[in-house]
Amino acid sequence: QKIHDFRKVLLDWYDENRRDLPWRQTKNPYFIWVSEIMLQQTQVQTVIPYYLRFIDTLPTIEALAKVDKEALYLLWQGLGYYSRVNNMQTAAQQIMANFDGQLPADYDQLLSLKGIGSYTAAAIASIAFDIPKAAVDGNLMRITARLFELDLDISQASSKKVFEGLLNTLIDPHRPGDFNQALMDLGATIMTPSNPTPELSPLKAFDASYQNGTAHLYPVKKKK
Ligand code: ADE
Repeated sequence: QKIHDFRKVLLDWYDENRRDLPWRQTKNPYFIWVSEIMLQQTQVQTVIPYYLRFIDTLPTIEALAKVDKEALYLLWQGLGYYSRVNNMQTAAQQIMANFDGQLPADYDQLLSLKGIGSYTAAAIASIAFDIPKAAVDGNLMRITARLFELDLDISQASSKKVFEGLLNTLIDPHRPGDFNQALMDLGATIMTPSNPTPELSPLKAFDASYQNGTAHLYPVKKKK
């Protein structure tokens, strides 16, 4: 029952407070993919104009697969980490060759594409296809470590698997994309790295570190 309450409180908060972002007005899997790749190393406010121009200029996976590098890099100029867009083009060519030009509605098939790791595969699967997979990045690891006072070292790859397993049991099976994005918004606005006393958090009642005043101890991150 507690798990149902947790989902309801989180999703009710999201329904009231969700940020109105352009990639939240579409279910187009390709557009969602573009947004998630851009958002990996770049702030939301910076991404918005790049995202809008990118999907306007290259509105289909086929267009991305075929565009010449010069035009492609021009669309990315200012975002940095050009390997991201290079990998996207390679993946677009894989999709044309193997998936009939459509992103597959399957987590493992998404993972097989160049540049798509567990975070991006889960984000696309949940947001575009309603598949209940948790999209675990640094923000979600911080939130989860705080909620459960988990001492897992987030700089270790094996920890991410544990967070994914835990969040895959928590995720709302009816609204997985909203569940993931609610946690993303919570991590960006309220349960931020610098705020160990998130008075405005809808999850306070479920938050062990909030209750115990230990949020500043989480997440654990050992120097490599
Ligand atoms: N950061 C990464 N993915 C995001 C999304 N879908 N919405 C807002 N922030 C994000």
